[in-house]
Amino acid sequence: MVRVGYPATLPPALFEGFPKEVELIPLSEKLDHAVDIDVWIPDPYPTRAQRIVPHLRGVKLVLSLMAGTEWIPGAMGPHVTICNARGAHNISTAEWTITAILSMLKYIPLYLEVQHSGQWKRRFEASVHYAQITGDARPQYPPIMQEELTGKAVLMVGYGAIGQEIERMLEPFRVHLTRVARTARSEPRVHAVAELDALLPQAEVIILILPATAESKGLIGAPQFALMRQGALLVNSARGPIVDTDALVNALNKGRIRAALDVTDPEPLPDGHPLWKCPNLLITPHIGGSTPMFAPRAVKTAEGELRRYLAGEPLHNVVQTAI
Ligand SMILES: NC(=O)c1ccc[n+]([C@@H]2O[C@H](COP(=O)([O-])OP(=O)(O)OC[C@H]3O[C@@H](n4cnc5c(N)ncnc54)[C@H](OP(=O)(O)O)[C@@H]3O)[C@@H](O)[C@H]2O)c1
Repeated sequence: MVRVGYPATLPPALFEGFPKEVELIPLSEKLDHAVDIDVWIPDPYPTRAQRIVPHLRGVKLVLSLMAGTEWIPGAMGPHVTICNARGAHNISTAEWTITAILSMLKYIPLYLEVQHSGQWKRRFEASVHYAQITGDARPQYPPIMQEELTGKAVLMVGYGAIGQEIERMLEPFRVHLTRVARTARSEPRVHAVAELDALLPQAEVIILILPATAESKGLIGAPQFALMRQGALLVNSARGPIVDTDALVNALNKGRIRAALDVTDPEPLPDGHPLWKCPNLLITPHIGGSTPMFAPRAVKTAEGELRRYLAGEPLHNVVQTAI
């Protein structure tokens, strides 16, 4: 019988639909003895999952509940196949991305401060802010108190499962969307990442939704910030190391750009880190994928892969094939 280890932190009811021919073994993060399993579904929190790796024996297949699986190949070695939960985070992360863009363009962080200060007239600070960050100092009537997403030039770097969901959610805003991925293709048109620098100067909003890899590390650094439009909005819903943090702090402190980040490098962002104090910045602590729908969706994705594995069919979301 195929033995499947799953995190004891997840309710067993989530696994009720699993094939009857597998033995389900709940694994506590406090596991202190060797356990033989064929398939491992790690805890979504890497630190909890990593704690039990030394006790696992015989693992042939890892079914991650996350889209990002960076730590797993190093921890498990090259002799296991690893699948991610591609798709399970699409809606939650896409919704975070749209929320972050609208929050920044509608100056919600500023208006929360205004609300807490109990001063209605502080809304005029929005006009000053708009002129400072965009460089648009024309006399305006009525004064500018927020911006519009509709019609903006949006550059999306990464056009996978989540990127395509973001595109779907952007449709009502009739944005001018430019897509970038590893390789160029048509219908719809996707540019190769090699063209990124040429595309940056036109973008008003730049969305990062690609994996952290050796190639994407530092993809957005000082030269890329220099190419961005004055006041461009950088939205990172992907992974912190894709952006060079020192260059980001510098660009923010100089008032060159604004940013919304669900992810940072380092993460968690330590107390006193310069990013905490940067202007024109919204930070959320890596919560983009976490909604009540996450676990049921991710476990369903793992169940689909397990059924294919048992049937000897090709797996859908392989990020590492066992050698
Ligand atoms: N904030 C959160 O809580 C949260 C939640 C879920 C996921 N994420 C992050 O979001 C990432 C994307 O998820 P997904 O499900 O959309 O992944 P996916 O379906 O695998 O798509 C990844 C996309 O990124 C592109 N890409 C890969 N390397 C690239 C590079 N060096 N330069 C430019 N483009 C590159 C791929 O290009 P090709 O199409 O050419 O292959 C593809 O379009 C995950 O890896 C994870 O890090 C964050």
